[in-house]
Amino acid sequence: MSTKKQSEKPFLRVLRGEASVPPPIWLMRQAGRYLPEYRAARAKAGSFKALCYDPVLASEVTLQPIRRFGFDAAILFADLPLPLEGLGQALDYRDGEGPVLEPIRTSADLSKLGLPKFLDRLAPIFETVRRIRAGLGPKTALIGFAGGVWTLATYMIEGGSSRDFTHAKRWALRDAAGFAAAIELLSVATLRYLSAQIQAGAECVQLFDSWAGTLDAEEFERWVIAPTRGIVSQLHAAHPGVPIIGFPRGAGPLYEAYVRQTGVDAIQIDSGIPLEWAAKQLQPLCPVQGNLDPQRLVVGGAAMTAAAAAICRKLGKKPFVFNLGHGILLDTPPEHVAELVRCVRGPSS
Ligand code: CP3
Repeated sequence: MSTKKQSEKPFLRVLRGEASVPPPIWLMRQAGRYLPEYRAARAKAGSFKALCYDPVLASEVTLQPIRRFGFDAAILFADLPLPLEGLGQALDYRDGEGPVLEPIRTSADLSKLGLPKFLDRLAPIFETVRRIRAGLGPKTALIGFAGGVWTLATYMIEGGSSRDFTHAKRWALRDAAGFAAAIELLSVATLRYLSAQIQAGAECVQLFDSWAGTLDAEEFERWVIAPTRGIVSQLHAAHPGVPIIGFPRGAGPLYEAYVRQTGVDAIQIDSGIPLEWAAKQLQPLCPVQGNLDPQRLVVGGAAMTAAAAAICRKLGKKPFVFNLGHGILLDTPPEHVAELVRCVRGPSS
């Protein structure tokens, strides 16, 4: 029965391999500060972190862009480093800076983290998932998410956002066995985190490996492909039929090896991936999601609509989900988002 219900959602049908004209659409970071109603909810919560851990307000901000734009999928409102807090690493947010953590840089540091209280600490997030699912209409799918383990490791080790990932890369190169223990802990945590989201009602999950493109090919295979393959195979075994979208942002030609070797069900491409290449190399392997440059959404007009039409023309004949190539930018005019949705769905919408 649940299969029949799910198969009615256009987004899930595409992820199972059916082409759709027009394609389903949602946008990465579709909930956020570009929306006045988000800013109001965040002010009510008092801080970004309080918002993430408040199931009433977090489910509300997840649903805001669905109500406003009618997207085909909602994505859980949370943030990528939260599971690190679940493992016992202190996490804070400073305005304009993003996440700030106490860095973990050695095996001795790593031993301070652990799994025993992991799911309890993150319980409000699973309650958010239940509330979102209850608030969605029959056509809108719910996406859960986690960071890719390499990206999660960069936040854990650098202590926040980074430009060159010096500490993470050098730990991996100097002490591969010690670094592998960190990746193993993060893999187990991610598996439990995503399983709990699925049990709470997520119908699909996306792995955001935002900094995958900063590794050389050898390290990419070791710290992106291999752990992702492990997580994908275990999630598939535990939750058959729940699609997994991979996003190794910036991976360039390594996207192909990622799709072939990880077993992801669909692939999110960044704006740097040429459409012809994606159509030829990736779409025969699995559904593709992407990849409008978020700056085009800020600028609007023909810079946005012509590029969106080209994406639909070149990728829309096979299974394809319209999305950006990276998250929505802070100064995006909401009217441009509405216009993009009309442009992708066509005049009948
Ligand atoms: O897509 C959605 O609407 C769901 C929510 C979501 C957020 N972060 C909310 C958020 C998702 C899926 C993420 C993922 C995330 N978080 C990633 C992977 C995707 C990517 O962008 O590469 C990463 C790297 C992070 C880490 C992170 N969180 C950074 C670097 C920052 C600061 C940058 C910024 O935009 O301020 C955040 C904060 C954050 N995460 C905000 C939101 C809405 C802004 C916080 C605020 O309201 O002040």
